[in-house]
Amino acid sequence: MRLFIAIDLPEEPSKKLAGLRAEIPGVSWVPPEQLHLTLSFLGEVAVGICAQLTAELVKIGAPGFDLHFTATGCFPDRRQPRVLWAGLAAAPRLIALAQQINNAVTICGISQEVRPFSPHITLARCRQPAGKEVGAFLDQQRRLKLPPFRVREFILFQSLLTAKGAIHTPLGQFPLHA
Ligand code: 2AM
Repeated sequence: MRLFIAIDLPEEPSKKLAGLRAEIPGVSWVPPEQLHLTLSFLGEVAVGICAQLTAELVKIGAPGFDLHFTATGCFPDRRQPRVLWAGLAAAPRLIALAQQINNAVTICGISQEVRPFSPHITLARCRQPAGKEVGAFLDQQRRLKLPPFRVREFILFQSLLTAKGAIHTPLGQFPLHA
């Protein structure tokens, strides 16, 4: 099964981010209810690992925190954008939580991709070389004047890849303390 661990975006900021959408050919927007901040991407793992992983994630006793939006941006760069995202400030509690999760995943013998953690919420994916419209979108929405939101839990998700897109199913919810 394909797994990842993420923070689900609450309804209010999801609606506001969905409101930024622009009709751009070749660009698929993530449905508002699927917007999330990936903390760890585990990829394909054996089904049997889930119980051990859950037991390790339950042990994480991290505090809740607020997340502040920064700006929009894209991966890998503006010349060939593949992913459009909303950036979030790297709050120390967020970085510490991502590190604790990485440790828990590593204890379970799952190797994660070594990619520097860059807190973002993927807004859209570009299927073809994007034209000027993507640059215009990024310029228009450069600064994200959205209220911060409180993070109270993180979630272990299964991601099922289908012809109609990914289906994300929560397998476990792990509360942070107040
Ligand atoms: P991102 O959109 O936050 O960048 C579920 O597939 C999530 O896992 C995606 O939203 C994506 O994160 C992340 N993901 C998918 N493939 C990945 C990969 N090869 N390496 C790291 N993260 C990946």
